Amino acid sequence: MKESVSYRFTSAEVKYYFNARFSALSKLTGKDRTVLITDENVYRNHISKFRGWNTIVLKPGEEFKVQATVDSIIDQLIAFQADRQFTLVGVGGGVVSDLTGYVASVFMRGISFGFVPTSLLAMVDASIGGKNGIDVGPYKNLVGVIKQPAFLLFDFSFLSTLPEAEWSNGFAEIIKHACILDAAAFRLLEKYDLSSVKKDKKFLFGLIERNARLKSGVVKRDEYEKGERRLLNFGHTLGHALETQYILSHGQAVAIGMTYACHFSEGLLGFSGTERVVKLLGQYGLPTHAAFKTEKVFEILKMDKKRVSREMNYIMLEKIGKAVILPIPLKELEKWIKGLQ
Ligand SMILES: NC(=O)c1ccc[n+]([C@@H]2O[C@H](COP(=O)([O-])OP(=O)(O)OC[C@H]3O[C@@H](n4cnc5c(N)ncnc54)[C@H](O)[C@@H]3O)[C@@H](O)[C@H]2O)c1
Ligand SMILES: [Zn+2]
Repeated sequence: MKESVSYRFTSAEVKYYFNARFSALSKLTGKDRTVLITDENVYRNHISKFRGWNTIVLKPGEEFKVQATVDSIIDQLIAFQADRQFTLVGVGGGVVSDLTGYVASVFMRGISFGFVPTSLLAMVDASIGGKNGIDVGPYKNLVGVIKQPAFLLFDFSFLSTLPEAEWSNGFAEIIKHACILDAAAFRLLEKYDLSSVKKDKKFLFGLIERNARLKSGVVKRDEYEKGERRLLNFGHTLGHALETQYILSHGQAVAIGMTYACHFSEGLLGFSGTERVVKLLGQYGLPTHAAFKTEKVFEILKMDKKRVSREMNYIMLEKIGKAVILPIPLKELEKWIKGLQ
C-alpha cells in the first residue's frame, strides 16, 4: 500500500491514502470488527469489493440523511453486536459519509470511523474536515458534530461508475475552491471541460488530490470555523436555501449561489471576474441562474448557520482566488436577491 499523508487537526490526526486500492482497507481495519456503511448504488456497482465485510446498505439520496436512518443504522449495529472496539467505514458519497461520521460519533458515545469516498464531491469535499450530520425538515445539516475520521482511503476506480450529473456536482466544489483560494487551479480548469477532464486521468487524479489537500489545509488552520473555514461556504448560503426548496442537486444549487455571490461581490467589492466564473461553471455542466420565489427562499436562508442576529456573514470574492467574509444586514441581502430576479 502506498504511503499515507497525515494531517494533524487540533482534535486528531487523519491519515490520507491517495491513489490506493479498496482491497488495502483490510490492512487499516480488521474485517471482524468493522462495519461498512454504503448505499444501494455504490453497493450494486461494486458488489465484489464488499465481499467478506459486514455491510449496512442504505437507500441512496439526501432525503435519507435524516434521524430515521441513524436509528436504523444503530439497530443494525446492535444486530452485528458492535462494541466500542468496532470501526465504521462509510463507503459512498457525502450522504453516506455524513451519516457514518455522525452515527460513529454518538454510538456508545463515540467509536472510530473512516471513509472511502466514492463520489467526486465526497473525494474533494464531503469526506474531509470532520463535519458530520443530518438534515431536519428543510434545514440542511442542522444537527451534527465536528469529529475527524481516523483515515481516508481514495480508490479512484469507484469513479468509473459515477453518473454524469454527479461529476458536475463535484466540479461545483472544485470550482468553489479555485474561486476562493486557488487562482492557478482556476486557470487550469479553464483549459478543460467536463468531457476532456474525465479523459485526462493524470490531471484528474492530481486535481482531486490538490482539492483534498486544499480543503484539509483550510480545516487544519481553522477546524472550528472561526475564520478561514467559513470561506468554504462560498455559494452555499443561497445554495442551501435553493437546494431544499427546489429540485436542484447540491452542486447545481451551489453553482447558482456562487453566481449570485459574484454579482453581490461586483456591487460591494468591485469584483470583475463574474463572466469568467459563469463561463467556467457552464464548461462543467452547471447552471448559473434559477427563477425562484424570493420570499420562500429567504425564509430558509434566514435560518442559515452563518447568520448572527440580523446579519448574515456572506462570502464574497475580491478577485478570483481571493474570498472575504462580509457581514450583510438581512434586509439588504433580501433587496439584493430580489433585484437579481
Ligand atoms: N461534511 C461535509 O463537510 C460536507 C461537505 C460537502 C457536502 N456534504 C454533504 O454531502 C452530500 C452530497 O454528497 P454527494 O454528492 O456525494 O451525495 P450522495 O452521497 O447522495 O451521492 C450522490 C449520488 O451518487 C451515487 N454514487 C456515489 N458514488 C458512486 C459511485 N462510485 N458509483 C455510482 N454511484 C455513486 C450515490 O448513490 C448518490 O445517488 C450532501 O448531503 C452534503 O450536505 C458534506
Ligand atoms: Zn457543498
